[in-house]
Amino acid sequence: MSHDFGAKPAVLRCARCGRFVDWDEARVQVICSCRPHIDLPPVLVREATDADRAAARELFHRDFGRTKVVAFGEIMDLDQMPALVAVMHAEPSGALAYRLLGDALHIVALATDPMWQRSGVGAYLVAEAELLARRLGLSRLIISTTNDNLPALYFYQRRGYRFSALATDSVITHTHQELAGFAGIPVRDEIRLEKRLG
Ligand SMILES: CC(C)(COP(=O)(O)OP(=O)(O)OC[C@H]1O[C@@H](n2cnc3c(N)ncnc32)[C@H](O)[C@@H]1OP(=O)(O)O)[C@@H](O)C(=O)NCCC(=O)NCCS
Repeated sequence: MSHDFGAKPAVLRCARCGRFVDWDEARVQVICSCRPHIDLPPVLVREATDADRAAARELFHRDFGRTKVVAFGEIMDLDQMPALVAVMHAEPSGALAYRLLGDALHIVALATDPMWQRSGVGAYLVAEAELLARRLGLSRLIISTTNDNLPALYFYQRRGYRFSALATDSVITHTHQELAGFAGIPVRDEIRLEKRLG
């Protein structure tokens, strides 16, 4: 069990030096709008083809250390879910796995290759998931993340997602241990967010 839901490998990229960084080594830093805009190739988002699935699997595996995730009280296998991929060059640089849950599109996992983080890949993937939800006539998008994942909490709230529930100790219930997450913060709780489509 601890292997299935074990520690996460390096998945983040230092905004200052560009080095890939482990969750527990990462730190929050306040910056102003001095950050330069980088000119990047266009991002193409599409439904994952069979050929894309191996790359998407690799991205999720690197981020979560596994392809099974726990969210909303369920264990889900990312290999069994539909996915969107974002392509900047030839290879997928980001992937988003989702499922339909009642009136919601559930973003089950979102991962950007550290090399391409802060290039708009995550934002394009989420925007496409929102378009898909609208096309399907759904009324909201839901996601869950862990209490330590400050980059994800920042990323989603910046894009209009609001806290909807806190599942205290739900991660510990599944991992049976207290892992060190972002900046060494103990990973304990599941934080759920939602965005209602107007
Ligand atoms: C959370 C995560 C998915 C964000 O993905 P991302 O591809 O880096 O996100 P984006 O590039 O779209 O946006 C991040 C920032 O880059 C900035 N950015 C985008 N394009 C840019 C460009 N051309 N030049 C400079 N900055 C740019 C965005 O403005 C945004 O910053 P802001 O919100 O302060 O304005 C990514 O950090 C990740 O994979 N984390 C690990 C896995 C994880 O935690 N997943 C979420 C839980 S399921």
